[in-house]
Amino acid sequence: MALSTDNMPQQIRDLKKMLRDNMPDYRERFKQVSEAMEAEVARIKQEEAAGSAIPQFEYADIAAHGFSDAQRAKVLQSGCCIIRHTLPADEVSAHNEALSRYIIDNGYYDHIPTVEDNYFSQLKSDKPQIFGIYWSQAQIWARQHPNMAVARRNLNRLWTWQEGDKTFFDPDREASYADRVRRREPGDATLGLSPHVDSGSIERWIEPHYREVYHDVFFGDWKNYQAFHGANRIEVEEYPSPAVCSVFRTFQGWVALTPQGKGDGTLQMVPSSLAMPYMLLRALQDDVPEDDLCGAAPGRALTVSPKWHPLLLEGLVSIPQMQPGDTVWWHPDTIHAVEDKHNGTEYSNVLFIGAAPDCGKNRTFLAKQRTAFLNGESCPDFAPEHHEKSYAGRATLDDLTELGRHQMGFE
Ligand SMILES: [Fe+2]
Repeated sequence: MALSTDNMPQQIRDLKKMLRDNMPDYRERFKQVSEAMEAEVARIKQEEAAGSAIPQFEYADIAAHGFSDAQRAKVLQSGCCIIRHTLPADEVSAHNEALSRYIIDNGYYDHIPTVEDNYFSQLKSDKPQIFGIYWSQAQIWARQHPNMAVARRNLNRLWTWQEGDKTFFDPDREASYADRVRRREPGDATLGLSPHVDSGSIERWIEPHYREVYHDVFFGDWKNYQAFHGANRIEVEEYPSPAVCSVFRTFQGWVALTPQGKGDGTLQMVPSSLAMPYMLLRALQDDVPEDDLCGAAPGRALTVSPKWHPLLLEGLVSIPQMQPGDTVWWHPDTIHAVEDKHNGTEYSNVLFIGAAPDCGKNRTFLAKQRTAFLNGESCPDFAPEHHEKSYAGRATLDDLTELGRHQMGFE
């Protein structure tokens, strides 16, 4: 059933009635989740005081042994992690330099369209910090790097990817998703993103597969809810929007191209998997207007607000210092933000690379993306700017390794 944006206020009123009719304990349920979330915020603050609340691992350790049970439990609780030294730092730095030249020498700055970004309801800056670049050598190198495949395989395996005779996705095969580049210059104050969650806003309450994903939160024992269970997630449908990601990702993520940490205009997160159940139940409480889900709107990021979610904002922390080649990963339900101002003295650059395991949904997308790659067009999930069509040095089929060809679905 296709989602409709017709008479959204009435849809939300009907939805709330249906949910509450089936959840007579919605007030008590939220009270319990709130108490558990308060404990989570206390944990986050304690861990921050001791260093960082974001779990951190060494690539060599994960590659050799996978995630231990204790490490897995940390990621499942926090909904995110950092993997140090995923890619060799010296090679990353060389690729960062080459990427700068690729962008500048090919004249990116001479052709900057100012497009309204409805997803965050704000106008993009004249001077871009996020680049509509998809096929640079640096990106191809990082996406098809064997270490990234190992990291993603282990991350995918943190999920329940099969159950009984059902396989939700193949954790060992990656569907390479061509995302963009962030190059944030020192002093920039245009890119800050307020705390939000991607992968759907109103959909999380209204879309039938999402309702199954969150069944225990709404109707069962909320303590049994498993954020890392693959059932139904791969079937979720979102309202069509230029900013919506068409693939199923087990983790969003990026590779640090330059050193960056707190204050350098970088990533912040609320490292708790309980935050989403909290948001879902918060919107159903009596003090929220009947036709409102705490501000959720179709085709927009799901935002976390001081008005409705002050408790969650208490748990917002900046990621610790990152070095070139370190990677950060977060579950599609994890609240994240970008610091308003870059107060550092160097560029803070990243390649957005998440984990999108092989499944029907992702294979369908790869078919469209392959054509874009061969033609040097923008990834079909993003604005059709097609900057790179005429760029010298753009990656072609010859630059793909055997693994890279598999990940792009060429064979
Ligand atoms: Fe985001």
